[in-house]
Amino acid sequence: MTATPPPENLTLDPENWDQIRKTGHQMLDDMFTHFETLRDQPVWRQIPGEAKKSLDEDLPMDGTPIEAVYDQFRKDIFPYPTGNVHPRFWGWVMTNGSATSMLADMLASGMNPHLAGYEQSASLIEKLVVSWLAKLVGFPETSSGLLVSGGTMANLNGLAVARNAKAGYNIREEGLQGGDRPELTVYGSSETHNWIYKACELMGLGRRAFNEIDINEDYSIDLAACRAAIEADMAAGKKPFCLIGTVGTVNTGAIDDIVALRALADEFDMWLHVDGAFGSLVTLAPEYKHLAAGQELADSIGFDLHKWGFMSYEIACTLVRNTEGQRETFEQNASYIASSERSLSVGVTFFADRGLQLSRSFRALKAWMCFKEQGITKIGNIIQQNIEQAQYLEKLVIANEALELLAPVTLNIVCFRYNNGTTSTEGLNKLNAEILMRIQETGLAVPSQTILDGKFAIRVCITNHRTKFEDLDILIAGVLGESQNIFSERALGNKIYEI
Ligand SMILES: Cc1ncc(COP(=O)(O)O)c(C=O)c1O
Repeated sequence: MTATPPPENLTLDPENWDQIRKTGHQMLDDMFTHFETLRDQPVWRQIPGEAKKSLDEDLPMDGTPIEAVYDQFRKDIFPYPTGNVHPRFWGWVMTNGSATSMLADMLASGMNPHLAGYEQSASLIEKLVVSWLAKLVGFPETSSGLLVSGGTMANLNGLAVARNAKAGYNIREEGLQGGDRPELTVYGSSETHNWIYKACELMGLGRRAFNEIDINEDYSIDLAACRAAIEADMAAGKKPFCLIGTVGTVNTGAIDDIVALRALADEFDMWLHVDGAFGSLVTLAPEYKHLAAGQELADSIGFDLHKWGFMSYEIACTLVRNTEGQRETFEQNASYIASSERSLSVGVTFFADRGLQLSRSFRALKAWMCFKEQGITKIGNIIQQNIEQAQYLEKLVIANEALELLAPVTLNIVCFRYNNGTTSTEGLNKLNAEILMRIQETGLAVPSQTILDGKFAIRVCITNHRTKFEDLDILIAGVLGESQNIFSERALGNKIYEI
């Protein structure tokens, strides 16, 4: 009798390791060349119809050799990014990443550990990185912390811990469904980033739980108005539970008075959460660290490393001063994730108990690798350079009569517009929107936009380790040049710009 042959074993490993090794090396080489030659490329370009068509494909049921897949990536995907790796990208609050960060992502993905916790090197690294970050922003070593995907998630985590700590009843058990409980309310300036609305909605508090407090001339929170809103809500039977202070607002880079917010929070027995998405890391800049004064007093803080930490997406951190606060908010028990006496599931830090995610990637590796390879001193000096570049741009704007600064420059953000004094506010808004689109479309630079006091602003946010001071001269020349082009076109009868 002949034995039945075993069935064929399927695997996703390549049949030919040499072949994938060759393509992999090519990919790495191409990326390094890309970083090396960025300056010669446009910051952004429109995706051509042909590429869009090529990317609109049916579900691939059968495989294609990696070389062919990579060729398509090179042709139709790689040339059309947002452009944020480029030296003249200053839109929204994005950053470049770095070669080291990219390599760390590759290694983390190759190692591919599951970072809920467990006795493994990756857990040690996340624990170490969290403790480094606590040190950097002045939080106690005993703080609880977690790496998350971004500022929105970091702040959501902090607000959830705040709600749990300050609700005044067992909100995890009873939720918000319980009859005549007082409405829970949150306070922050009208410049607070819109993560707060996502968080309030998701946590069942509702949008109206967030009180948008008026701002001062420097765009920081008006403390007297904040106190008045809290007192009015308390008088109306509500329960104010959390103050949000921002270190670096998204529109203008304004910084709230965190020391005063701490005192206010204590007076009303409220939680203080600081959103330091990009601003917190100013604490690394030798001459500007004082700007973040007071953030170390918060109960919790959320900040990104994929903004002013110059790391590639996605990585941010939440820290909670109270060692048990995150665990008390998120911990779940189940037999299938219980720890054991020894071996892999021994009772080490269980990161999944500090936040929403159970399956978590090894994002800590890139923080560890970037900090070690680049050194905190250099990162801090580049943050300082970005602030000085913003100040340089501010001077260029002020020195030019046709340009108008629209907000004070506190950190790394400059908001300005073209205004030669001949046009209405509405006309100026259209004109500046047109200038901005042209600057982006020509690939010269990517600032973004915002509206300040009804005025359309060209907004330059410098969280970019590749920017040189000269790049800002190029921007100003571009803005002036495009405005002249628009005026000439209008003189020739082009009526698109009714300004
Ligand atoms: C002040 C502030 N908070 C929160 C966020 C949200 O961060 P993320 O985009 O990483 O979710 C941003 C984003 O720009 C921000 O500027």
